[in-house]
Amino acid sequence: MLKNTNTNYGVITKNFHWLMALVIVINFSIGFIMGDLERGPLRFFLFNLHKSFGILILFFIFLRLFWRFMNVVPDPLQENKLLKVTAKSVHYFFYAAIIILTFSGWAYSSARGASVSFFGLFSLPPLVEKSDANSDVAFSIHSNIGLILVGLFIIHVGASLYHHYIKKDQTLKRMWFKKSE
Ligand code: HEM
Ligand code: HEM
Repeated sequence: MLKNTNTNYGVITKNFHWLMALVIVINFSIGFIMGDLERGPLRFFLFNLHKSFGILILFFIFLRLFWRFMNVVPDPLQENKLLKVTAKSVHYFFYAAIIILTFSGWAYSSARGASVSFFGLFSLPPLVEKSDANSDVAFSIHSNIGLILVGLFIIHVGASLYHHYIKKDQTLKRMWFKKSE
């Protein structure tokens, strides 16, 4: 099934979810280590990879949101109203965090006067003027939202595992692929 139904996720949403989760986790890990490396080819390579993956994520998050608006979204499998609202809020905060992360990363690079190239194919124009003040603000946003992303990730994965192993419901299974997909 390509589209979501009231009770299940369609194959396009599942692909968006798992591919983006993978790239976001990889990009977070690169961002986390690259700043501490000594200047040299590895640092240069990882900075460019981080920016390229970031642009990819930025592009896909808007496609994904577009697809989400074209679809119904299955309700969380949860009777407790508060937990239901929490589950939905984590999903919305994820989208917000990812959009802010990509724009603040782009702004930070612009403020430092660094280029933002997509795998060497094309470069994004500077988002803000080059200045130390802009660079400080953008870095602080990028870094703090990065931490918030970790918090959301822990709640999200913890909740999935709780549903799967303790409540033993369909939450994780309905986000995973069926044999026919
Ligand atoms: C979802 C996408 C992204 C994630 C999860 C992410 C994550 C991170 C993390 C965790 C850091 C380390 C922050 C710290 O040291 O406190 C970082 C640093 C950085 N990120 Fe991103 N980032 C993303 C997108 C981008 C984009 C799109 C760009 C630029 C176009 C970018 C450019 C940078 C730069 C230049 C640094 C600074 C490294 C340094 O000087 O220490 N990031 N990112
Ligand atoms: C950074 C990584 C991740 C992000 C940004 C993310 C984001 C999201 C979002 C936004 C949704 C809502 C549906 C949608 O709009 O596509 C969702 C649903 C879901 N995610 Fe993730 N996710 C991530 C990683 C994971 C991981 C690692 C797991 C499992 C261990 C997981 C399990 C689920 C499940 C089971 C659902 C369906 C929830 C429900 O039916 O109420 N996610 N995720």
